[in-house]
Amino acid sequence: MHIIHVTAEMAPIAKVGGLGDVVTGLARACLARGHTVDVMLPFYECIEKQHIIDLTLITTYNSFHDGNWILTNAYRGEVSGIPVIFVEPSNQFFKGKYVYGGSYDELEAYIFFSRACLEWMQVTGVQPDIIHVHEWQTSALPLLYWDMYHHLSLKRPRITLTIHNMEHYGECRQEQLSKCGLDGAIYATTDRAVDDRTIGHNPERLSLLKGGIVYSNAVVTVSPTYLKETLCSGWLSSTLIRNRDKYFGVLNGIDPAIWNPATDIFLPVKFNAQKLEGKKFCKNYVQKGLGLPVESAGRAEGKDVVNGTQQKVPLVVCITRLVAQKGLHLIIHAIKHIEELGGQMVVLGKAPDDRVEREFKDLADLYNEGPAIRILLMYSEELSHMLYAAADMVLVPSLYEPCGLAQMFGMRYGAVPIVRRTGGLADTVFDIDDHSNSHMANGFVFEGIDEGSLNWALDRAFSLYKNKPDEWTGLVRKAMERDNSWNNTAGNYIEVYNSVRVRDDSS
Ligand code: ADP
Ligand code: GLC
Repeated sequence: MHIIHVTAEMAPIAKVGGLGDVVTGLARACLARGHTVDVMLPFYECIEKQHIIDLTLITTYNSFHDGNWILTNAYRGEVSGIPVIFVEPSNQFFKGKYVYGGSYDELEAYIFFSRACLEWMQVTGVQPDIIHVHEWQTSALPLLYWDMYHHLSLKRPRITLTIHNMEHYGECRQEQLSKCGLDGAIYATTDRAVDDRTIGHNPERLSLLKGGIVYSNAVVTVSPTYLKETLCSGWLSSTLIRNRDKYFGVLNGIDPAIWNPATDIFLPVKFNAQKLEGKKFCKNYVQKGLGLPVESAGRAEGKDVVNGTQQKVPLVVCITRLVAQKGLHLIIHAIKHIEELGGQMVVLGKAPDDRVEREFKDLADLYNEGPAIRILLMYSEELSHMLYAAADMVLVPSLYEPCGLAQMFGMRYGAVPIVRRTGGLADTVFDIDDHSNSHMANGFVFEGIDEGSLNWALDRAFSLYKNKPDEWTGLVRKAMERDNSWNNTAGNYIEVYNSVRVRDDSS
């Protein structure tokens, strides 16, 4: 099968959050299963070219925007072992210091990109079996395909949309959509049957994501629980009234080629579930590096995860975009509570919003000179690997979380997860005190969005860590040994792709 991902992000060259990780990990897993996979990505100006192998200009063609044909270059290269086609228009689109937030109109740029990818397939005659689009950014592609391109291709590709986060639905005006050559008015009305052509979100606005949902052959959310949460509430539930069998909840995986503490190039010492000495070294290394006190094994009480002595001070990490979804008030509360409990905490985060950035900057000023808390307001892939490796616990207190990769990375690196029960967190972390599910138990789970609920989980985790070191070590090993990788879940995507092909072939 030939699969082409059309995406706004790809790790590590154009990664903002988990979307980039998912594209790279899933593409690699499908390649390993013998499929042909390409990733089509905007050629963002901020991409560091040294990460791309064999970069070659392969096609120069015209792609449509706002009444003009824009000269566009397609380059082929390889990133982290995966074939990538970079699409570079000659206008200002995708120019800027970061993946998002350039000075061009983002909606128009991604709608343009969606058409430019189809146009490239048209011009070159490349005919994949599956076009896999992601998020609102590439959700105009299914509309464009059915409206303009489907009669031109011999082998009708099937379109799969993955929704990583329903919160962002690409709200756009008719005129913005029309700039790619579609008739925005046709799609604008809200008073038709829900699976009719309309993608109106409200009378004035269109939703690109809704367009993707209505016009794709298969729609996947990134965890089974998130599918239930979105099926049963919100605007998707009305969109989903018909054709329920095209919706799937497929849990994300993590890329074992990149996220493996036994081979990770960013770690000073490697380790695995059987040999945890390296993890202790990583903890001390990070503590020293960040100026946090390192307790010598001799002074500590209890037993070590490694060899008989355990530090009294657990290290908790929280590595996240600092946005409301992630439970900001709970992260702030955790900082205070963990200090009171005598633990250490490192927050590694970036806030797209200035007000949130200032709030965390104030907290950093207050705490960073002290002995317990470090708040690092930056994006660093390398540091994130080291922190997962150093941590005893990883905190993910999200208000909602479609899947969440941080808890999976944490587990892989022996950091026991403390999470709110929502979305993919509920599908991957099982509380040690939930006796109905004890064989799965691998962390601490709380329900409420209040501070008391979080305290309950943190207090239990700290108590086990300090008082029952052998049980703690067992939990660390269990978390590490759970296979959260794409090796385990990519097959579910292949089934989705196949189910679309079979259903359409027979209809
Ligand atoms: P989301 O996609 O909603 O941000 P996920 O948990 O799915 O949440 O994925 C987040 C990814 O981004 C993880 O790979 C996490 O380690 C990474 N990440 C988030 N913030 C930072 C940061 N400041 N520095 C480095 N990596 C980060
Ligand atoms: C989104 C979601 C996150 C998910 C990621 C990858 O950014 O917020 O929960 O893990 O996409 O699918």
